[in-house]
Amino acid sequence: MASSSSRPGMPGAGLVRPAALYAATFAAMLAMSWSPSAADESKAAEGARLYQQNCASCHGATGKGDGPVAERLKTAPQSLATLARRHAGTFPTEYVYRIIDGREERRVHGGRNMPVWGTYYGLRAQGQGRDAPDTETAIRERILALIEHLETIQVGYTAGAGEAEATARLLERHLKAFDARDVDAVMAAYADDSVLVIPTGVLQGREQIGDYYEALFAEFGKPGTVFKLLERTVVGNVAHIVWSGETPDNFYEYTAETFAVEDGKIHHQITAFRTVAR
Ligand code: HEC
Repeated sequence: MASSSSRPGMPGAGLVRPAALYAATFAAMLAMSWSPSAADESKAAEGARLYQQNCASCHGATGKGDGPVAERLKTAPQSLATLARRHAGTFPTEYVYRIIDGREERRVHGGRNMPVWGTYYGLRAQGQGRDAPDTETAIRERILALIEHLETIQVGYTAGAGEAEATARLLERHLKAFDARDVDAVMAAYADDSVLVIPTGVLQGREQIGDYYEALFAEFGKPGTVFKLLERTVVGNVAHIVWSGETPDNFYEYTAETFAVEDGKIHHQITAFRTVAR
């Protein structure tokens, strides 16, 4: 069935059975699903409620695609618990937003088997009173709450690749900054309460860590310096590198550094190396 419907705001659904069944389901959803004030509800709780009211009938209570209405649909609804897994380990926020909203999706791709929730939430938001958010804001809030809920039901996915990607990017920036012997760029990756453990002690805070890099770059900035990255590993928020090198002053036979990243900064760094003076 095409998604278009003669009544605006009645999203089409791919039911094989008579449209009446769908209309009844939808009417029941309309009757139940609106609570005018969501202000005292956390976003995740709102998302969970909206999910049970608007999505579970098809996608199943736990998102596995096994809702009671699912078997009457021409196209089986996918499991929403594997969205991240099916998108290379990263929850596909933009894609999911577009699919739930559905207005743009329908314009570009034509028919679809899922209700157009952007239209539905828009209609529900109208006539909510003067101090209610405008329609587009209301729609966005609901979709984002749903997305927040969907992220919590992902299986085989723990903070995962999204986090690892961010860690890998931070490490890459750090290595580039090190390569350029640029103390300011290096220090951009540290927070005020960062801790750097080196063989001779514990450095705490940006000032001490900054002084350490100044000294390090004074040595590694000398002509004839060699730096060789031997290993680079990223797991979640932890990065590990191994390198060797030499400066006119020292041989660095084997240096292992472990970085724990928090809120986009290197929060802990443990560096182990052995130098041999030339
Ligand atoms: C009437 C049944 C039905 C309801 C209710 C429904 N969906 Fe769907 N949904 C589908 C079907 C069927 C598909 C498969 C795509 C298609 O055929 O359009 C789908 C696809 C999706 C997709 C894409 C999945 C993927 O793996 O690409 C997402 C995300 C989604 N739905 C989210 C939701 C959310 C969130 C709600 C509640 C606001 C919801 N759906 C309510 C039937 C439904």
